[in-house]
Amino acid sequence: MTSEPSPAFTAAVQDVAAAVEAELDRLLPRPEGPTAKLDDAMRYACLGGGKRLRALLVVAGADLFGVPRERSLRVAAAVEMLHAYSLVHDDLPCMDDDDLRRGKPTVHKAYDEATAVLAGDALQTEAFAVLADPATHPDAAIRAELVAGLARASGARGMVGGQAIDLAAETRSAAGQPLSFAEIAHLQSLKTGALIGFSAEAGPILASARTIERSALIGYAADIGLAFQIADDILDEEGSVAELGKAVGKDQAAGKATFVGLLGLEQAKAKARELTTSAQARLAGFGDKARLLQELAEFVITRRS
Ligand code: IPE
Ligand code: IPE
Ligand code: MG
Ligand code: MG
Ligand code: MG
Repeated sequence: MTSEPSPAFTAAVQDVAAAVEAELDRLLPRPEGPTAKLDDAMRYACLGGGKRLRALLVVAGADLFGVPRERSLRVAAAVEMLHAYSLVHDDLPCMDDDDLRRGKPTVHKAYDEATAVLAGDALQTEAFAVLADPATHPDAAIRAELVAGLARASGARGMVGGQAIDLAAETRSAAGQPLSFAEIAHLQSLKTGALIGFSAEAGPILASARTIERSALIGYAADIGLAFQIADDILDEEGSVAELGKAVGKDQAAGKATFVGLLGLEQAKAKARELTTSAQARLAGFGDKARLLQELAEFVITRRS
């Protein structure tokens, strides 16, 4: 887990991160009038931080099919809004109770709990408003498919469902009944995998790509989604607050269901590596065009933040 990203990959990461930052800045409400505090908290949650890996996945997946960047960047911004909302709520005292996110105080610390709940709510609905806007794609059927896809990935059978199982697992762990391998894989495929899955599928949706190409990206995302959460759990044990910009060493104490807890660090690393290799194999049909996505799969497990 030590190989360095190529200069081309690093440049692409920076390029997409800057472009999606500008897009978010344009799309998010300007703080004004009686909602200024809410508007401000939404911008605080979304701007100026984060790896923007989901945005990169949307843009790189869309680039494969020649989708214009002005469209893929809107979808990337919508996904980052949804993701930021999930983090704001994940950090609340009733969930993971965290004080630090992306190197700064969490939204409920910088503002207050009610504002954090509302900023999360508003970021979520804004994400769907962006997808539903004709500027995202002129074809209403494609916009509807994007909206339905993000809704499925985010709701009770997606991220929110995964978060519910994540919290329930703490109780099971306290009762001496930790989740099995299959149960943890299911939890993580919902909590983290679903939104990563939508991010990878958005390009083929925007391009009305062939089923075989869409399926390849769905399979790739299932593998990197799981690898991504395993890496997050490894970093909770091995990373530092300075690198991650969030608390470390909390999962075990909270009784979180993770592969690190179940398998130990070394086997969890081996599992993440196996998933990355599998993800890369799924892109074989795209040849050299998928170089960025190939490297992204590698970066998911070699990252230090
Ligand atoms: C953190 O996601 C939450 C998980 C799903 C593990 P990221 O590690 O992508 O967080 P940012 O966007 O870079 O802050
Ligand atoms: C959160 O997973 C996943 C979300 C859906 C937000 P974690 O609780 O492990 O994420 P971090 O470690 O707080 O970023
Ligand atoms: Mg959590
Ligand atoms: Mg958390
Ligand atoms: Mg974590």
